[in-house]
Amino acid sequence: MEPYAFFEDKFMPLKDAKMGILTQALHYGTACFGGIRGFWDEEKQHFCLFRVKDHYRRQLDACKILNINLPYDVDKMAEVTVETVRLTGFKENVYCRPLAYKSSEAIGVKLHDLDDGFFVIATTLPAYLGTGGIRCCTSSWRRVSDSQISPRGKITGLYVNSALAKTDANRAGFDEAIMMNERGHVAEGTGENLFVVIKGQLITPPPYDSILLGITRDTVMQLARNELGIETVERSIDRSELYVADEVFFTGTATNVAPVVELDHRPIGDGETGPLAAKLRELYTQVTLGRNPKYSEWYTFLKPE
Ligand SMILES: Cc1ncc(COP(=O)(O)O)c(C=O)c1O
Repeated sequence: MEPYAFFEDKFMPLKDAKMGILTQALHYGTACFGGIRGFWDEEKQHFCLFRVKDHYRRQLDACKILNINLPYDVDKMAEVTVETVRLTGFKENVYCRPLAYKSSEAIGVKLHDLDDGFFVIATTLPAYLGTGGIRCCTSSWRRVSDSQISPRGKITGLYVNSALAKTDANRAGFDEAIMMNERGHVAEGTGENLFVVIKGQLITPPPYDSILLGITRDTVMQLARNELGIETVERSIDRSELYVADEVFFTGTATNVAPVVELDHRPIGDGETGPLAAKLRELYTQVTLGRNPKYSEWYTFLKPE
């Protein structure tokens, strides 16, 4: 059992996948990545890879932005991901990290006339922010806007913006930072989308407020609508609305649904996990196990030999 990779068109143990130090993407942030979870069902002895094709659709959109042309379509990317997971031999939750990148070993800032590469790694990853309530601060770093680097795709260079905010937050003793966009509206966490509950309304920032169009965000919106009859309102959110909200929670593939219990030293609601966050976390956890036929198009099953 070990992490595996599909790299340069071949499957290999992760430790054998190496690239040159002049690779263009390493120097200029010209790559885009994904994050896909495979949930191990102990009872059924199989993996459920969750919304794998939706993750690759979004990644191929980011590839368009970065002028990356891959010889693979969504089906092929999903297929090699399944095979990479199988080769790990793991029988526990896995995390897949695909990356599409400018692979030429060349100096020069540009996107054109360069080779493109793609790999995917299958490994394990614990819940990103832990499972308890999260303590946050508002970051003094503003979320990068679409006129700078598009936040629509997980473009590696963009994550310097997230890393600056995350490190400041952690060093100040917080678990995570919440970032405002250039106009001062709430955008998202450094690696998570954000929802608030105010007077029974479920609200999340709209796509034009410098957010990643998260797959978990979309999943939670669909679960809220289909399972709880709650329509999510997509509108700009002011910073101080977070202070007076009844609930605030993050969503993300790495994070699951994670309640924020404190922001800038103020308790959110009563400082405990809110009822809607708890309900949506439960629904999300259930649906990702692959047991709900209503959402069968979200599931890719894999039975290890
Ligand atoms: C900046 C940012 N926002 C939101 C998310 C959540 O996206 P998803 O639910 O597709 O994992 C991520 C995931 O890594 C992210 O990096």
